[in-house]
Amino acid sequence: MNLKTTDPDKINFREKFELKEKVIIITGGMGLIGRAFSEACCQYDGIIIIANREGAGSKDHASELSKKYGKEMTGITIDVANREDVENLKKITLEKYGRIDGLINCHQNKTAKFFAKFEDYTDKDWDAVVETNLKGTFLTCQIIGGYMAEKGNGSIINLPSTYSVVAPNHNLYRGTSLGSPAAYSASKGGVMALSQYLSTYWAKNGVRVNQITPHGVWNNHEERFEKNFSEMSPLMRMSYNHEVAGAAVFLLSDASSYVTGHNLVVDGGWTAW
Ligand SMILES: NC(=O)c1ccc[n+]([C@@H]2O[C@H](COP(=O)([O-])OP(=O)(O)OC[C@H]3O[C@@H](n4cnc5c(N)ncnc54)[C@H](O)[C@@H]3O)[C@@H](O)[C@H]2O)c1
Repeated sequence: MNLKTTDPDKINFREKFELKEKVIIITGGMGLIGRAFSEACCQYDGIIIIANREGAGSKDHASELSKKYGKEMTGITIDVANREDVENLKKITLEKYGRIDGLINCHQNKTAKFFAKFEDYTDKDWDAVVETNLKGTFLTCQIIGGYMAEKGNGSIINLPSTYSVVAPNHNLYRGTSLGSPAAYSASKGGVMALSQYLSTYWAKNGVRVNQITPHGVWNNHEERFEKNFSEMSPLMRMSYNHEVAGAAVFLLSDASSYVTGHNLVVDGGWTAW
């Protein structure tokens, strides 16, 4: 992989993007973006473990993908904020496949009162968002990433948010029922700081830690929101989940062997102006 050469003709660049036999855990793998990541990893010959909260159909979806791609994928029900669940995820994956090469943290908790006004946010709702988004990422990084560091190889991708680094322009939500709560920004700011920390902490162990920041991924949004978004976006539209997936394939694959500590923004230029 790290061939010491100045001759590019010795390199099979196409092969570098393959995820052949790489075992990849995707938390929140049943979500909007997680499903696109799962499909893309399978198409690039990876083996995936969908680790999602109860009731999302992870097992059924994994068996559909197993049939479609002719190898055994796995669906596991977990709460990422529960240490025992994450330990169990590692145990089951290692028992079944004997290795873990990739981890994508694609979970997020949208509570029932997610869009409540800042002044009305309860301790319970704040904790629920931060517990899942930040503590969940801490636990998976510690337990799964810790295993990778011990083995001397692995790629971790965390998903912070545009609002880890810039404030929401609240005009975006004008005339809609949507918003972006402070608990989300705060938890995702933590995810970004944690990822940056781990990228240098584990560099010597061969574990690369990167981030993907999607923005405005379309999910049957209210028409008014889509219009507001398009007016503010340099690319003048929302994005689609499949447009985020290429970034994950790149960061999981050997094509990104010298990339760590990076935040790959897939935001249509939102933070460029
Ligand atoms: N959609 C966007 O436009 C956007 C923009 C920026 C960042 N992100 C980030 O990208 C990631 C994926 O976004 P999405 O739109 O696919 O989100 P989503 O809400 O569609 O999916 C999140 C998934 O996480 C699962 N989940 C929730 N709590 C969990 C828990 N405790 N344990 C395990 N699984 C749990 C949910 O069941 C769901 O399947 C999130 O981290 C989100 O913050 C999304």
